[in-house]
Amino acid sequence: AVNLRNRSFLKLLDFTSAEIRHLLTLSQDLKRAKYSGTEQRRLEGKNIALIFEKASTRTRCAFEVAAFDQGANVTYIGGGSQMGSKETVKDTARVLGRMYDGIEFRGARQTHVEELAAYSGVPVWNGLTDEWHPTQILADLLTMIEHGRGKELNEMSFCYLGDGRNNMGNSLMVGMAKMGVDFRMAAPKQFQPEAWLVEECQKIAAETGGKITLTEDVDVAVAGCDFLYTDVWVSMGEPPEAWDQRVALMKPYQVNMEVLRKTGNPHVKFMHCLPAFHNDETVIGKEVADKYGMNGLEVTEDVFESEYSIVFDEAENRMHTIKAVMVATLGS
Ligand code: CP
Ligand code: NVA
Repeated sequence: AVNLRNRSFLKLLDFTSAEIRHLLTLSQDLKRAKYSGTEQRRLEGKNIALIFEKASTRTRCAFEVAAFDQGANVTYIGGGSQMGSKETVKDTARVLGRMYDGIEFRGARQTHVEELAAYSGVPVWNGLTDEWHPTQILADLLTMIEHGRGKELNEMSFCYLGDGRNNMGNSLMVGMAKMGVDFRMAAPKQFQPEAWLVEECQKIAAETGGKITLTEDVDVAVAGCDFLYTDVWVSMGEPPEAWDQRVALMKPYQVNMEVLRKTGNPHVKFMHCLPAFHNDETVIGKEVADKYGMNGLEVTEDVFESEYSIVFDEAENRMHTIKAVMVATLGS
């Protein structure tokens, strides 16, 4: 039987397919319990630290609401802590470990979340680093099951377009390989995941019955796929100049109605971890739109707002899946 008690959740490579499946099943149970008003509080009296070096809407709120639903208390640590400037991550880890039962970390460096886990003595959960975004993938897998029209994950095909070398590209490839999904990615060559990771995922896929296809050809990647996924072309922490190179390079990988039609699948669903640049109504969206003459970047407004789009189900599922991670690793 799967037992995740006291484990940290740092990246999906650390987890077996059975363990990921266990977290998805627990998420479904917790979601059902919340909807029916029968949720049991398994984190009663626990204290949880939430460290956010980078901005967040979904991840922060998901951790907080999940903790409150389960009877835990949280401390939000944004700017203003000593960590990083005056105090090492290692010392911070040992301090927080004396007071808290669990720690969430979002920031640039994967080494920091790993260090927190190594020295705090309590479960640490990765809320996004430059390399990985593992809790997001749990939400994505749960959403795929819910919208899969009865298919098992290992019967589904999934296509990611755009920046494949960021935290989302990396994590989705691992998650899909672990669950035996037919995973395709279309991205410019230099924005495909690093060779070692592709090799690792090919090995995983060979065991799970999954498939990994990396290409620069959108038509090849999207053919027949059940889910089309994209993410921002420039991630948090990257310099604004990155847009200059990326917009031209990524434009062929934009998810628009034509690309949706190219799947040939009338039931195809659009997914995005969010936040998304689907119009020019945000500050950065407007700047980039003015500069490059685009209204909507990685996805167009018509796709984002269409009946194909399941992005808000996906966003809700962040909460149910993060709750499952905390309950499985820390719950009574
Ligand atoms: N998808 C996601 O992680 O969103 P936030 O940046 O708002 O947490
Ligand atoms: N790749 C994006 C994901 C946001 C959830 C970023 O890191 O900004």
